[in-house]
Amino acid sequence: MRLLKAISLILLTFVISCGKPAEEKAITIGFSQCTEGDAWRKAMHREMEREVSFHPEIDLQIKDAKNSSARQVAHIREFIDQGVDLLIVSPNEAEPITPVVEEAFEKGIPVIVVDRKTSSSSYTAYVGANNYQIGKLAGEYIAEMLNGEGEIIEVWGLTGSTPAIERHRGFLEGIAAYPGVEVVADVKGEWEKEIAKARFPEAFHANPGIDLVLAHNDVMALGAYESIKGQARQKDLKFVGFDGLGGPNGGLQFVEDGILDATFLYPTGGEEIIQLAYNILHNRPYEKENILNTTVIDDRNVHIMKQQSDKILIQEQSIERQQHRIYEQIELYNNQQGLLYILSASLVVIIVLGALALQALRLKQEANRALLLKHQEVVNQRNEVALMAKKADKANEAKLKFFTNISHEFRTPLTLILGPVEDALQSNIPADLKIDMLLVKQNATRLLRLVNQLMDFRKVENKKMKLQASERDIVRFVKEVASSFDRLAKKRNISFKVQTDLKELQVFFDADKLDKVLFNLLSNAFKFTKDGGKVTLGLRLSDTYDSVVVSVEDNGKGMSAVQAEHAFDRFYSGDTSGSLSTGLGLALSREYMKLHKGTIAVESEEKRGTKFMIVLPLGSGHLSEDEIVADPGAYAPPLAPGVADTDEDLYGEPYLAGEGAKLKEHTILLIEDNKQLREFLKKRLEREFNVVEAPHGVFGLNQAFETVPDLILSDVMLPGQSGLEITSILKNDLRTSHIPVILLTAKDAMEQKIEGVQSGADLYITKPFSSLYLLERVKGLLKNRALLKEHYSSEVAVDTKAAPTPPKQLDKKFLNEVMAVVEKNLSNPNLNANSIAHDLGMSRVQVYRKLKALLGYSVNDYVVNARLKKARHLLLHTDKNISEIAYEVGFSSPAYFSTAFKNHFDRSPSDFKADRSLKEPSV
Ligand code: FRU
Repeated sequence: MRLLKAISLILLTFVISCGKPAEEKAITIGFSQCTEGDAWRKAMHREMEREVSFHPEIDLQIKDAKNSSARQVAHIREFIDQGVDLLIVSPNEAEPITPVVEEAFEKGIPVIVVDRKTSSSSYTAYVGANNYQIGKLAGEYIAEMLNGEGEIIEVWGLTGSTPAIERHRGFLEGIAAYPGVEVVADVKGEWEKEIAKARFPEAFHANPGIDLVLAHNDVMALGAYESIKGQARQKDLKFVGFDGLGGPNGGLQFVEDGILDATFLYPTGGEEIIQLAYNILHNRPYEKENILNTTVIDDRNVHIMKQQSDKILIQEQSIERQQHRIYEQIELYNNQQGLLYILSASLVVIIVLGALALQALRLKQEANRALLLKHQEVVNQRNEVALMAKKADKANEAKLKFFTNISHEFRTPLTLILGPVEDALQSNIPADLKIDMLLVKQNATRLLRLVNQLMDFRKVENKKMKLQASERDIVRFVKEVASSFDRLAKKRNISFKVQTDLKELQVFFDADKLDKVLFNLLSNAFKFTKDGGKVTLGLRLSDTYDSVVVSVEDNGKGMSAVQAEHAFDRFYSGDTSGSLSTGLGLALSREYMKLHKGTIAVESEEKRGTKFMIVLPLGSGHLSEDEIVADPGAYAPPLAPGVADTDEDLYGEPYLAGEGAKLKEHTILLIEDNKQLREFLKKRLEREFNVVEAPHGVFGLNQAFETVPDLILSDVMLPGQSGLEITSILKNDLRTSHIPVILLTAKDAMEQKIEGVQSGADLYITKPFSSLYLLERVKGLLKNRALLKEHYSSEVAVDTKAAPTPPKQLDKKFLNEVMAVVEKNLSNPNLNANSIAHDLGMSRVQVYRKLKALLGYSVNDYVVNARLKKARHLLLHTDKNISEIAYEVGFSSPAYFSTAFKNHFDRSPSDFKADRSLKEPSV
């Protein structure tokens, strides 16, 4: 922009300086003219100007004194003051003008005196004709013309002017030789026609016999001529003048016209004056006195003179025209030159701008090239970074996968460590060994918890961790979780309270996850609180009543500001006193709270304590459909050792000793491919149950049909047929549908649990599990089964509705079919397990075991029972005798019937019949 401005300025200056014509005149010539009112002076000016035009450097300034000597003096002084380079003076009168001319001359201004003279020789040069000589020439000519005889009236120019004086003097000299020629009168014409015209008649009337009028110039001669117009003498009087000017108002014309008889050429000398001035100013040689030639013009030569004069005039006019044209050409040239300059300047500017633009373009191209290279570099770098990031992602992914798999693999060994340890703790071992075992258990438990947390993190990271919220009473839930710490609080003398005004509050939450969060917070609170300290679990509605706030506050060691700030960061290592598990637990807790659309925060002060607060929104509007599951019933916090991480076990009461050897009433089929786990479980179960083993699904299935066990314990992940498939097959087969199935797996994905339940499994236990817990659940299921048996066995007819756990459809069907077969063949004494199994299309063992499992009876017992119950019915409701009834219900002899009846009902059939007659006399 600045460059453009500068170029514009240069261009403007250039144009102005070029466009303006070089009119600055270097030389000023001041011309003080006595008058310019007459043709002679006008001709002089024309000549001067024409000559000046050849010297453009000369500025000719003319001041007209209008016949006033005083005015002329003033003019000359002005020129002096102005500092003209040269002064031209044609003095009106000699005397009055002389001093000022001398002054100019003395001041160093070159002075050219023209035509009329001053009274001094203080001037640089003179141009003009010799007036004395002209006057003398005129005298001699007139004397001759008058033949030496005649009277003359002399019309004078200004008497103070030198031409008038000198012409008069010369004239007198010219006629001196002719005494007969006489000047009889003078007229003061003052060089002006009108003055002469006015004054001449008076002199003429006084001298009417004169022969000739001599006027000092042609115009005064004309004035005198015109003044006697119409008079007889006008024609014969002779008129003679001076100047001999060409043109229509000049003396040549007057002579030609016969007005004047003769005139004497008095050149104006304009051309010569300028040439002289030029020479003086340029220090060229010049003459001081430059006398112009003169000649007489009369009827003899007037014609030729006039012709020449006219020609000269025409030539002069032509010159002037040409001059004018030259001016125009110069003007044009100047203009064109200006234009050329402008064009040249523009061209220069264009070239400069072009060069600049070219340079800018080159620079820009270079910059672009550099930029492109840079861009390419950046793109390459970015691609490299992206590639590296991808590789890093892949590596990370692989690492995490490996990590997860390893973690996963840790679970079974940990279970195998924990199982024997728990067993050992239950047996009678020395106290010091027990403490060691507890230490092993505590650390294996801690390790298991870490593994679980890491796997949970993996799920969170993979977005596979889903919220399984259901609506529950959070007050009860919190109290249940808190109760796990009661014993520890008591042991360590820590004041532990649940503070809440709430009696019940239904909140949507994932019990499993919230349990982990609360358990973690409480574990930390207890861990960092000294014995005798205080831990408070608070539960309240938020101030805005739209969420519930659960707080865990302790008066323990507290955290520094930095520690508090990073409390929820994963693996934050700033806290050297905190364990890895603590950091991970809180980070995971935060993720769980995020899943709940809730928050977790901490306030802590070193040495004063810590307060964690979790906030759960009320209602279910913040949860998506797939985050809400149907109410799965009461939540039992897992008993798995992986969750608890307190020191309770170390100081807690010793485990109860095992129940001791019992009669092995039940058989359990154990399907597990991991030999170690299978043997461990077998060892654990064998104490109380008969155990049948199967290392894979197909064998397991065969065993199930063959042995018809009381309970099946199967891993889900099995080579060949999976646990889920086995369960499904067994549960859909009449022979085995009654057998409770417990599925074991290392995967605790909810989908698998659902699949497990859908397949018909009665229980789903996630590895790692406590063997105690497993035993409890096995016993629980068998107990449930026993209750069912009790119910069924109380009546032959099965009332399924009243059963503790309603039997599955297939089991109901089985019982009905058995009942139908038995009832139909009741009178057949050969009715036994074989014939029934045959009728049902099952093996004897299957019928036997299923019936035994469902009702607790052997087939024979069931048949005998059925015979006796029918007999009792017949005794009560018919008049048939005992023998008849015995045979009808399939007894081979009435004696055997009576014994069996008595054994069963504690009374003989005859007693029973007699009682009935007493109670029912009418029958
Ligand atoms: C013009 C004029 C001429 C004459 C000259 C003398 O003004 O009167 O006619 O010759 O001056 O100075």
